[in-house]
Amino acid sequence: MLIAFGSAKGAPGVTTTVNVLGDIWPGDVLVADLDPAGGDFALRHRAPAGAPIDPERGVLSLAAAARRGVTQSELAAHVQTIDGGLDVMAGVTRPEQMTGIGSAWPALAHSLRSAGADVLADCGRLTPGTPVMPVLSAADAVVFVVRPSVEAYAHLRERLQWLSEPLQIGRSGSVPVGVILVTSPSDSTAERDLDRLLQYARLQVSVLGRLAYDPKAVAALSGRSGRRIDRTLLIRSARQVVTSVRGIASGRTTATAGN
Ligand SMILES: Nc1ncnc2c1ncn2[C@@H]1O[C@H](COP(=O)(O)OP(=O)(O)OP(=O)(O)O)[C@@H](O)[C@H]1O
Ligand SMILES: [Mg+2]
Repeated sequence: MLIAFGSAKGAPGVTTTVNVLGDIWPGDVLVADLDPAGGDFALRHRAPAGAPIDPERGVLSLAAAARRGVTQSELAAHVQTIDGGLDVMAGVTRPEQMTGIGSAWPALAHSLRSAGADVLADCGRLTPGTPVMPVLSAADAVVFVVRPSVEAYAHLRERLQWLSEPLQIGRSGSVPVGVILVTSPSDSTAERDLDRLLQYARLQVSVLGRLAYDPKAVAALSGRSGRRIDRTLLIRSARQVVTSVRGIASGRTTATAGN
């Protein structure tokens, strides 16, 4: 399955969320760093032996190869394992490289869909004109990450309304859309408020749960600190989020809001 993650505005934690979910995802998983503003995975991580991540092997090299078609086994040439063991397709270093992919985007999305592993794609901020639209359309689910604030919710609603038409949100057979809240695990008010806002806006979008705001666990994510984080609030909350994300992506869960 291919799941696209993004944000409406600000830096709510898309890359961090993809990183955490990838770390505990059941089965084979691959992270594709598609942030048009420039990838962060290669900057935040190193290879397990301490070598830097090669920015030439990743989304750009796959996009070039995808024009003529890529087999599942050829995909491995564009993937690197980072500290902590996660397989990552490195992103671009300069935004203009992303727009340069141009007409290869649908082929790139197709290659990701046939990767033989579940692909979690970090698509960055989803603004009008984003080059990643073919990936959103080809995804099994589109997931927004948001922090709890009135402004963030307003921007999220506006962005979902903008996406309603191209993604046909809520129509039968369309890409399911969900939202992950990054907040305190005890903050049930934030989730209720968000759910209510989505309903008022008549958006068929599910709230997929809360990922804990946990700076200490996030700081240990790169795998270099040696700190075990499996019992942290971050990982405990992420396990529930993984279940909900897999649920909507596999069509097992229908939208809870807006019905
Ligand atoms: N669950 C979390 N708990 C604590 N801090 C977090 C969490 N998620 C993200 N952060 C922090 O928030 C900041 C932004 O996170 P991140 O880079 O993941 O956001 P982003 O949405 O990918 O931003 P951008 O659009 O710039 O790529 C970072 O300092 C990160 O450590
Ligand atoms: Mg990011």
